[in-house]
Amino acid sequence: MIWDDWWLDHRRMALHRPTGTLVVGDLHLGYLNFRQRLGESVPLESLAEELLPLEQAWNDLRPCGLLIAGDLVERQATGLIPAFAKWAHDRSISILGLVPGNHDTGIQLPPFPVLDQGHQLGRWRISHDDDALPEPLVHGHKHPAIPLPGHGMAACFVVSQSRLMLPAYSAHAAGGSVLRRSIVPWPEGEVIAMAGGRLENLGDINALRAILGPNQRKKRRL
Ligand SMILES: [Fe+2]
Repeated sequence: MIWDDWWLDHRRMALHRPTGTLVVGDLHLGYLNFRQRLGESVPLESLAEELLPLEQAWNDLRPCGLLIAGDLVERQATGLIPAFAKWAHDRSISILGLVPGNHDTGIQLPPFPVLDQGHQLGRWRISHDDDALPEPLVHGHKHPAIPLPGHGMAACFVVSQSRLMLPAYSAHAAGGSVLRRSIVPWPEGEVIAMAGGRLENLGDINALRAILGPNQRKKRRL
């Protein structure tokens, strides 16, 4: 789905069309291992399995480079960085860099640039979170999602003229309901949700709040 300078992809990422840069955030690689260590009985995925949607999007969209908008790995999973770099190299995926997120602490000398100050794509600033940065801004961090009948909490983009909030790439990370103003504090925006393997524009976020009411799901750790 085209929106402004962007192609929004149902595989939970966005392509900046003028530069051909594919932006993906909140991959949280190693998250299932982390949950297993906490005692949860969850099946593990190989790295290649976790990254298959990204590989498919890369092959379909044919971008020039990949920019990671933070939280590449889950905490204590920095050992996956070399494996991720090799995965990308083996597929000729050019990593422009990592804008580090709050889960990326401890990453040392990865084989691609670490962009501590964010990255500029055209008029858009790419960040991990939305802490007092100049607009227009692209960021993740909050794992936006919306309750949809038949789809549970559906991951979504939230877009406005000055914001593009990315869904978490990880299908396993908990989502923050965009019906809550703590997740989307800006006054306006549209919600574009993943439903049944495609994108649906659900329209104005304030209208959705009026219809669906505040979501009372307990907030989970992002
Ligand atoms: Fe995250």
